[in-house]
Amino acid sequence: MKISEIRAIEILDSRGKPTIRTFVTLEDGSTHSASVPSGASTGTHEALELRDQDPKRFLGQGVMSAIGNVNTTIEAELVGKDVVEPREIDASMLRLDGTENKSKLGANAILSVSLAVHRAAAYAHNLPLWNFLNTYYFSGDHKVEASFPRLMVNVVNGGKHAGWNFDIQEFMIMPLSTKPAESVRIAAEIFAELGNVLKSKKLSTLVGDEGGYSPALSSNEEVFETIEKAAGNLGYSRNKDYHFAVDCAATEFFENGSYILKKNNQTKSAQELMDYYAEIGQKYTIQSFEDPFAEDDWETFSRFTELAEKHQFQIVGDDLFVTNPHRIEKGINQKAANAVLIKLNQIGSVSETITAIQMTQRAGWNVAVSHRSGETEDTFIADLAYGSGAEFIKTGSMSRSERLAKYNRLIEIENQF
Ligand code: PGA
Ligand code: ZN
Repeated sequence: MKISEIRAIEILDSRGKPTIRTFVTLEDGSTHSASVPSGASTGTHEALELRDQDPKRFLGQGVMSAIGNVNTTIEAELVGKDVVEPREIDASMLRLDGTENKSKLGANAILSVSLAVHRAAAYAHNLPLWNFLNTYYFSGDHKVEASFPRLMVNVVNGGKHAGWNFDIQEFMIMPLSTKPAESVRIAAEIFAELGNVLKSKKLSTLVGDEGGYSPALSSNEEVFETIEKAAGNLGYSRNKDYHFAVDCAATEFFENGSYILKKNNQTKSAQELMDYYAEIGQKYTIQSFEDPFAEDDWETFSRFTELAEKHQFQIVGDDLFVTNPHRIEKGINQKAANAVLIKLNQIGSVSETITAIQMTQRAGWNVAVSHRSGETEDTFIADLAYGSGAEFIKTGSMSRSERLAKYNRLIEIENQF
């Protein structure tokens, strides 16, 4: 079925910052849309998010130039093309851009079209999105069964997402269940009870960018203990019902070769930080460490991964890999991690994201499909996580509708909608 029109508009993300929603209209008159998210603790090696830098609009954050690229150059190239082969449509946009990091058209412009085209393709094939992604990309040599991911639920926000409290950016719980409705219920109960515990300590229950609390607790250790207390009040226990996970986003506190922990007023070397992670990792059975070191510190990542495998920790590269197949390949060769965080807008098209997922799967590593801290109501990542058989999905806490939209979409899929 052929594309008859493509049109993008400027909408706002969950932080009130401009982003793009693109509408792809097919020859039968049906319209298929998608929106792109935006990060705060972004990796240096991510594809370029094109912003206008016009101080008169949205403090320079407008995206009218990227929208112009969709409505003129990209539309002119794609009108008349058949959506049943979206990989080819992505390839023509990459050719049109012609740069390494999508700096000509903008990764946000290209991704918005790529997402909407994949929705249109699912419609043209008469399949739910997850089913289309699974049959189109994960059959033959790359055969993977669709399966529900475990949830990584960010109940306490620190770092850049809260702006004042913890050096570690995300304190997460991961229910053991892979049934969406059941794991959402367990996480939501623990999140609600954590609010009660914080209130009883006269601490704030205001939430950060990803919907987790950001209370004035005195240490990382106290965060784990408070979450564990809340879970225990409900009869849930660590290792039996849930695990802990963290996203350290360590690039954010890396300065001149050292890690500066503002909370404890300490400066740590990479080795000292690694020792600290090993200590809290064992004490609280933290099953997953994301970005424990800075984004170009491959060597320390490799050393920590070797140690982690003894303790059965998962080491996830986010800013390290930026969903970029070249960096993932390097990481696999250097054994720099054993899991990859997958963010569509770090690389800027669906088909390249799928290549990143397939490389990760071939290496026997885990895949964690992720939102960004600036999100929209779009739920594409829920279908992607299920359709690609990802082991994990990371999409925030149990508050804020832009986070819950993804969990709710998983529940819909579980109920065959
Ligand atoms: P970001 O944070 O979207 O602000 O980059 C999410 C993460 O680091 O995983
Ligand atoms: Zn991260």
